[in-house]
Amino acid sequence: MQSIRLAINGGPCDVMVNPEESLLQLLRDELGLKGTKEGCGTGYCGACTVLVDGAPVNSCLFFAVDADRHEVTTIEGLATNDGTMHPLQSAFVKAGGLQCGFCTPGVIMSAAALLAEHPAPSESEVRASLAGNICRCTGYQSIVNAVLTAAEELRTQGRAGERPGSGARLRSRA
Ligand code: FES
Ligand code: FES
Repeated sequence: MQSIRLAINGGPCDVMVNPEESLLQLLRDELGLKGTKEGCGTGYCGACTVLVDGAPVNSCLFFAVDADRHEVTTIEGLATNDGTMHPLQSAFVKAGGLQCGFCTPGVIMSAAALLAEHPAPSESEVRASLAGNICRCTGYQSIVNAVLTAAEELRTQGRAGERPGSGARLRSRA
């Protein structure tokens, strides 16, 4: 076992991890952050997408030890402390960007990374950024619409380029 320290959704987290343990296992099985989903477990579906230092990664393929001294943001970190949904979350609900919802946390985290870098993306840029996230239900158009709506809302709120999770609730467990 190895001791690591990381920041999860804005809060410090000190944990012991097995060197072979994935970040996905740490988040779901040890920290109880079940919003991040396990689909394929092999880096294909994107359901497990979280942000490490703002960049989307497949947490099923990312060793937990490699998160040592880095910032991890999960879907639980997007809403604010008072429970207000992130504009991406609101837009997905309004646009019908989800059906079963299994892919949704991963899709939203990929989209959050995109909007932090590109506050006014084109439709094709949205589609390209979500190429690693598989959705079996929606046909994708409603997802793309939701991301474009959220981008507009973030700009309207003066939050264009905001780093995902920067207003996040504290989630930590020593
Ligand atoms: Fe990680 Fe599918 S569960 S990419
Ligand atoms: Fe069901 Fe995307 S909403 S897989």
